[in-house]
Amino acid sequence: MRKRLQKIIAEAGICSRRKAEELIKAGKVTVNGKPAELGDKADPERDEILVEGKPIKIPEKVYIMLNKPAGYVSSTKSQFGEKTVMQLLKGLRVRVFPVGRLDVDTEGLLLLTNDGDFANRVMHPRYEIRKTYFVVLDGELAESDFEKLKRGILIDGKRVKIDLIEKRGKNKYRLVIHEGMKRVVKRLFAALGFRVKYLFRDKIGNLSLHGLPRGKWKRLSKRELRLIFSENLSDSFKKS
Ligand code: URA
Repeated sequence: MRKRLQKIIAEAGICSRRKAEELIKAGKVTVNGKPAELGDKADPERDEILVEGKPIKIPEKVYIMLNKPAGYVSSTKSQFGEKTVMQLLKGLRVRVFPVGRLDVDTEGLLLLTNDGDFANRVMHPRYEIRKTYFVVLDGELAESDFEKLKRGILIDGKRVKIDLIEKRGKNKYRLVIHEGMKRVVKRLFAALGFRVKYLFRDKIGNLSLHGLPRGKWKRLSKRELRLIFSENLSDSFKKS
């Protein structure tokens, strides 16, 4: 994919975007043998990009799924000494970041990657990727609550609709939703007067945890990556 040169250089870990702009302006970056100009784009997989005469190395793209346990923050750094999901990625040598977030008390499927374009696609509302949750409430939904959830509930001035809700036992529900705003599931049920006692994310698109034990992670295969978008295939993953 073609991207601005300063972005490519920063992603290769050579320097910041700003420093990369300075190097481009100083004529120290070439693309296929020609000096680059600020604003130029290139494809790091096809073009030969040299910075001060040295070819840049594109870091391997890594896609991971983690079965997040409760008690871990979905962030690369902890602000107040809490445990972060990074501590669960033992043995992984590549730096990754979480794609979106699960609340500290939420469990289940969390994606991590070092591919910013992929993360944007998964999170961007345009792609409407459906997430499936298992929810335990502190009470039982009435028929009218099901209706309200299907019609949509106003949160922060936005009408949030769910795609599906099914009863799965006493106070237990399976919910499918494509809206990705923060704490959306808890806020939907709070608007109906319920508290979420337990929340577990089982699926993103058609990718599910599929028996991955709690606290464990694995790299995703291309086939598994495609499952994320299989309701709405994005171009780059269609090809691979
Ligand atoms: N909705 C929530 O309320 N919490 C989560 O962690 C994920 C979705």
